[in-house]
Amino acid sequence: MIKLVKEVEAEEQAKKEQILKNKSKLQSKDFPLPLYQSEIYPHLYREEKWFNLFSKKWVNNLVSLFTRDKIIDSFIGDIYPASKVLQMGISFGDEIERVADQIGYQGRFDIIDVNNAQISFKQAALSDMYPQVNFFHYNAEDPLPEKYDTVICYMLLHELPIVSKMKVVNNALNSINEDGKVIFVDYGRPGMLHPLAYVVRMFNRLYQPFAEKLWDKEIAGFAEHDLDYNWKKTKFLGGMYQRVIVTHKGKDQLFY
Ligand SMILES: C[S@@+](CC[C@H](N)C(=O)[O-])C[C@H]1O[C@@H](n2cnc3c(N)ncnc32)[C@H](O)[C@@H]1O
Repeated sequence: MIKLVKEVEAEEQAKKEQILKNKSKLQSKDFPLPLYQSEIYPHLYREEKWFNLFSKKWVNNLVSLFTRDKIIDSFIGDIYPASKVLQMGISFGDEIERVADQIGYQGRFDIIDVNNAQISFKQAALSDMYPQVNFFHYNAEDPLPEKYDTVICYMLLHELPIVSKMKVVNNALNSINEDGKVIFVDYGRPGMLHPLAYVVRMFNRLYQPFAEKLWDKEIAGFAEHDLDYNWKKTKFLGGMYQRVIVTHKGKDQLFY
């Protein structure tokens, strides 16, 4: 079949756009580990044995009381194939692989983390199976150089002190396209009669001091301009986990 010059030019242009889309503007930075991580999780994110243990599917499922898969299933369809996605913080288990599979080779999946050890462990685990995935040593509190179709903040907020929570939430919201979305997954407030509520509260007070703020406050409460967005929250395991999908409000919704 003979192609018109116009068609060839359009194909070339589409290829150029694809290459541009797949090239991240992000660049790794050099900075020390934040104090909240080195003090509260001195071993968890530095030693490969913990990464390997918690990345095992059955361990990951067990510690989440078999809820992780359900939560990932609930948002994976909201991420579009060939789209541009950013994740703030490396997660254990196969969440990253599930998202990378969903995006496919035509998309781009940028992952940022403050801990270089986590980046090397996850990079090694993925091997060269996912060319769409790029890792960067970068703090989720710092402004990002481009906008994304989806920003994922998966089990990160509960580890952060309140000021960092606010910076990360606002940064995530500022980093989506006009039609983009932020997906937050984290702990939430279990119902009053939840059989595990007090055990979890005790555990948090001993080992995760910043998690309880997510019991007292909605994630929207950390945002500077929360009224400019739609906040769609779903609870899991009696409220112990929450998934919140945030999109820009349409102009017609501004006064609701
Ligand atoms: C996203 S959480 C997920 C781990 C969690 N326990 C889970 O359920 O999978 C932990 C990761 O976030 C990273 N992290 C912590 N603070 C960060 C920040 N401000 N910016 C980017 N990554 C951060 C940590 O280094 C760690 O690799």
